[in-house]
Amino acid sequence: MRSEAMDEFVERVRSESDILSVVASYVPLKRKGNRYWGCCPFHQEKTPSFSVVPDQGFFYCFGCHAGGNVFKFLSLIENVSYFEAIKLQAEKLNISLPQQEKTGQELAKEQRIADLRKIQEMARDFFHSCLTRTRYGIPAKAYFASRDIREDTIAAFQLGFAPDAYEKLHDAFVRRGISESLLLESGLVLKKQSGSGVYDRFRNRVMIPIADERGHVVGFGGRVLDEGLPKYLNSPETVLFNKRRLLFGLDRAHQAIRQEGYAIVVEGYMDAISVYAAGVQNVVASLGTAFTLEQCRKLLRYAPEIYFCYDSDDAGQKATLRALGIVRETGAQVKVLIVPDGKDPDEFIRKHGAAAFQALTKTALPLAEYQIQYVLQHTDYSTLEGKSSALSQVLPVLKESVNAVELNAYVARLTRTLGIDEGIIQSEIRRYSGQPQNAVQTQRAPLRQAVRQVDNAVCRAGRIVIRQVWQDVGALAHLTAMVPLEQFPNRLQGMILRFFAERLQRSEAVQDALAINELGEEAAAELSRALVEDPGGQDLMTAYEDCVRVLRREYLKQLYDEHRLRADAMEREGQDTAALQELAESQRIQKEIKEMDDL
Ligand code: UTP
Ligand code: MN
Repeated sequence: MRSEAMDEFVERVRSESDILSVVASYVPLKRKGNRYWGCCPFHQEKTPSFSVVPDQGFFYCFGCHAGGNVFKFLSLIENVSYFEAIKLQAEKLNISLPQQEKTGQELAKEQRIADLRKIQEMARDFFHSCLTRTRYGIPAKAYFASRDIREDTIAAFQLGFAPDAYEKLHDAFVRRGISESLLLESGLVLKKQSGSGVYDRFRNRVMIPIADERGHVVGFGGRVLDEGLPKYLNSPETVLFNKRRLLFGLDRAHQAIRQEGYAIVVEGYMDAISVYAAGVQNVVASLGTAFTLEQCRKLLRYAPEIYFCYDSDDAGQKATLRALGIVRETGAQVKVLIVPDGKDPDEFIRKHGAAAFQALTKTALPLAEYQIQYVLQHTDYSTLEGKSSALSQVLPVLKESVNAVELNAYVARLTRTLGIDEGIIQSEIRRYSGQPQNAVQTQRAPLRQAVRQVDNAVCRAGRIVIRQVWQDVGALAHLTAMVPLEQFPNRLQGMILRFFAERLQRSEAVQDALAINELGEEAAAELSRALVEDPGGQDLMTAYEDCVRVLRREYLKQLYDEHRLRADAMEREGQDTAALQELAESQRIQKEIKEMDDL
């Protein structure tokens, strides 16, 4: 869908975007010279290795190697596609998208969805003002106060109240020109069973707006103020509201999840609200249904680890085990946070305070530990049958334990607790795993061994050269004559330079913000690094020439090796003339290298 209008649009958004203010709204930054430093929002760190250079319009993290322009930053931090990030930024800057050709049907559907979004937002504002600004809200205010929900929390979550009447919302919205069919589709009103007409779905309930990841309200949970049933009434599923995919609170939590490296999943809306208000912001709730695979995958986009903190009752523990089963296949790291006192996290916080909950997060149990505890608590192992049953229940858990040390600790504990001989437990584990003697001891190698290219003077030279070409594409011709881009010493840098060359050939701007995204993640990050990295004291031009020399020397060295290898191979095959030619060529190259070194 590239078009001139689209290119112009993107370029305009890029040039009007100030990367510094965008990044600074997420990450505290400190200035040093012409660059700014902060703690990277994309991995955990205590000393800043995340840098923004506003003059270049790029950021780069020297720790986790994330890097890119303002759009890349937004797409990473808001977890949206690159193009969505451009649109987000355009929205903020009030730049409208170029009009595209769309079918009438597409336009109508888009309009409908836009209207539905609007109406949910209006409903949130309506409920919120009923709570905070009208006399109807008085009992609801008292209710929130009785649950220790502060006014700042009410404001932060835009909590509300649906008045005890059948037509308040309906009438207010119709007065504002909202059609009845739209109201019905939004789920805010229902058709009367008998006769004609509609009535408000939510009545006499405190209202909790549920938003998608980007903070758009898509539905509501409404709670009774007393012991009435159902305790919570939720919006029906609509095009916007999909319970299996949504996580309550994710719009507020995702940054904290990324920063902490884990998400806390609780069962209830109120739990999520309380935990958040207690200063633990990486919390979401799973909307009353069982935790789903979609929800798990969604969280894994922000962090590799999930803590389940479900209700302490039996149902909560069962739900935890179910959730653990779901999560297992995704490879997420999982811990369980047990609420030691009170029914759920909200009650715990009300009893013991925010600090106690914060401390509790440090006591999360590893998955295997939790499961073993669960089995031991729920099995009567005083009898022989009980012992055997407990053992067979923990075998699957033991099989998955992370390393031999951990496994041995569990075995020792089971030996003590169950009073079974250690040898028997060991042999049961082997039998269960279906592996030969001792195989259980050799465990899976640690995952995620980050393979990083060695960074050396040649790589640094490559980046300085890229920086120069970025500023002045004219330099590319000279560079290509010295170092053919196809054989550029560093693979990623070669990709970047060839990308520049191709654009230059088509008379397209090298700095095009849409095109950069075609570079691929790794190469784009390397480009950012080239632009953000301090090139050192020298002035760029002399440094540039030195760098081209370093690169040419490296290129010649590789070329020399190639000719030598070929000469050897040909000699072995008896192709003597060809071998001699290769050798002569390698000598010529060696001479040039020597001349360079003598200079
Ligand atoms: P809980 O009953 O544990 O909710 O149900 P809670 O948040 O602790 O409720 P409070 O503290 O009494 O206010 C957990 C979740 O299950 C869903 C809701 O999402 C709730 O937050 N649920 C529960 C419903 O959707 N409907 C119900 O009738 C009950
Ligand atoms: Mn509760």
